Amino acid sequence: MENFNGTDLKDKYLSFFESKGHKIIPSAPVVPENDPSVLFNTAGMQPLIPYLMGEAHPYGTRLVDYQKCIRTNDLDSVGDATHHTFFEMLGNWSLGDYFKEESISYSFEFLTKVLNIPVERLAVTVYEGDESIPRDEVSASVWKKLGIKDERIAYLSAEHNFWIAGETGPCGGDTEIFYFRSNDPIPEVFDPEDERWVEIWNNVFMEFYKDENGKVTELPKKNVDTGMGYERVVAVLEGVNDNYQTSVWCDVIKKIEEISNLPYEGNETSMRIIADHLRTAVFISSDESMIKPSNTDQGYILRRLIRRAIRHAKKLNIDINSNWEQEIAKVIISKYTKYYSEIEKNQSIALEVLTNEKIKFNRTLEKGLKEFEKVVASNVEEIDATTAFKLYDTYGFPIELTVELATEKNIKVDENGFKAKFKEHQEKSRAGSEQKFKGGLAGNGEVETKYHTATHLLNAALKVVVNKDVHQKGSNITSERMRFDFSCDHKLTDEEKQRTEELVNKWIQEGIDVTVTEMSKEEAIKSGAECMFIEKYPDIVTVYSVGDISKELCGGPHVKNTSELGTFKIKKEEASSAGVRRIKAVLE
Ligand code: SER
Repeated sequence: MENFNGTDLKDKYLSFFESKGHKIIPSAPVVPENDPSVLFNTAGMQPLIPYLMGEAHPYGTRLVDYQKCIRTNDLDSVGDATHHTFFEMLGNWSLGDYFKEESISYSFEFLTKVLNIPVERLAVTVYEGDESIPRDEVSASVWKKLGIKDERIAYLSAEHNFWIAGETGPCGGDTEIFYFRSNDPIPEVFDPEDERWVEIWNNVFMEFYKDENGKVTELPKKNVDTGMGYERVVAVLEGVNDNYQTSVWCDVIKKIEEISNLPYEGNETSMRIIADHLRTAVFISSDESMIKPSNTDQGYILRRLIRRAIRHAKKLNIDINSNWEQEIAKVIISKYTKYYSEIEKNQSIALEVLTNEKIKFNRTLEKGLKEFEKVVASNVEEIDATTAFKLYDTYGFPIELTVELATEKNIKVDENGFKAKFKEHQEKSRAGSEQKFKGGLAGNGEVETKYHTATHLLNAALKVVVNKDVHQKGSNITSERMRFDFSCDHKLTDEEKQRTEELVNKWIQEGIDVTVTEMSKEEAIKSGAECMFIEKYPDIVTVYSVGDISKELCGGPHVKNTSELGTFKIKKEEASSAGVRRIKAVLE
């Protein structure tokens, strides 16, 4: 759209929905707090799932936010004009409050009155229905009433207009809003296949729940979940086809041009990769969970992103030893401090993470590249597993980087062979396989291990002191403290806190053995083992027991005997969210 500038879109969005009675909720961390099964939040609605399922939200029934999201499934596509690993999603929600009519009217008003988009540029899709859900005439008639013509409404199947995050969870039919982004004359009839029409907003009417068996039941309340991808909408409305040329990115790209002394044109791929990956790395390392580069889970993604950015900086002949990564990151940081307090607060941590990882990779990068060139020079068609593993293990090349380098030379990599070697290596060190289901465990050091066992004792003690129905809702451990979230409808009394503390310490003093057994998931449940997200665990699970005090499905690791823990002290007890309390505690 002519003269549109996306820099204040977030502010406009929040204040519009605030004026419609919505409460602004802060973005949840990118690393989900209470769900060990996914590495990152991938959609605006993800942190709200419990509330979409019926739990009362402490801020009420009308919510609005922008949510940090990370999607790494198409990390390899980054480098083109539209893919990003990090993006922000603007969303507004009704939790059993308004439904289709208001939701659609709000969206329409925001687009046409606040953003001043001409109605002629808009078209919509609605759900055509199936054997059990009727065609969505309600949404269609609201659109018509607002001035969207019949020819601009397309009825589509579940593939397009039924939304669910993954396989199970809250879901429902949706209506999607499209914008005609070309300068061509606008066709009367909307053709959703015509790429000049770009989707800008998705309003999901979440009234169902789909379980693991595919069974769909009604949710206790009818909700609305809308999502608008910030980067995409800014690009569309600013009228550019390349997201990296919008107000969101232009300063960052300019900085990279300056540092590399090269123009964007002709160097787009590497510049986009550097910009995108450094931004995501800044967000991951500033997140509350304080992820550091490592060889597992989120830490591995962070490592991959930084190392890939370094490799592309090298391609642009940037002097790797200069302060390039911090200079670029500072431009990124300055764009987000207004919107994310953690970016402001943790900026020096993020800069340090980038530089430390650079130094680490830099030590072996040259040698690794030489090794790689040597193999390529020998005219092989495929990099064998041993070489790929050596590049990983000795030179710190994430396998994906080796694949990327090889693809550039038109050769393949024996990825399956690499995986087998990797697994063998992991089993030897046993660390990796235990990592996957480690819940809120942030590290694997000795201190963290003690805290991990302490969470099991605390969980058990709360059941005795407070109520047998207390369940773990989340946990987070650093080498300094543990945090434990649990379901409970009241603030703990001083007496309850004291008795909990005493009971945990009594168990520590008794020196009880911690044992681990493997069993099928079914058997584990039957045996009464405690577990947070049963459906997320593999078929064969490990169960940790502390004498007959506690039994939990858990990936470990744990201490061998409770006597190793020291003295347990509750530092704080506070509300976490509705019906969930949070304890911060230390071992002294
Ligand atoms: N959950 C929907 C989406 O991600 C709307 O927010 O598109």
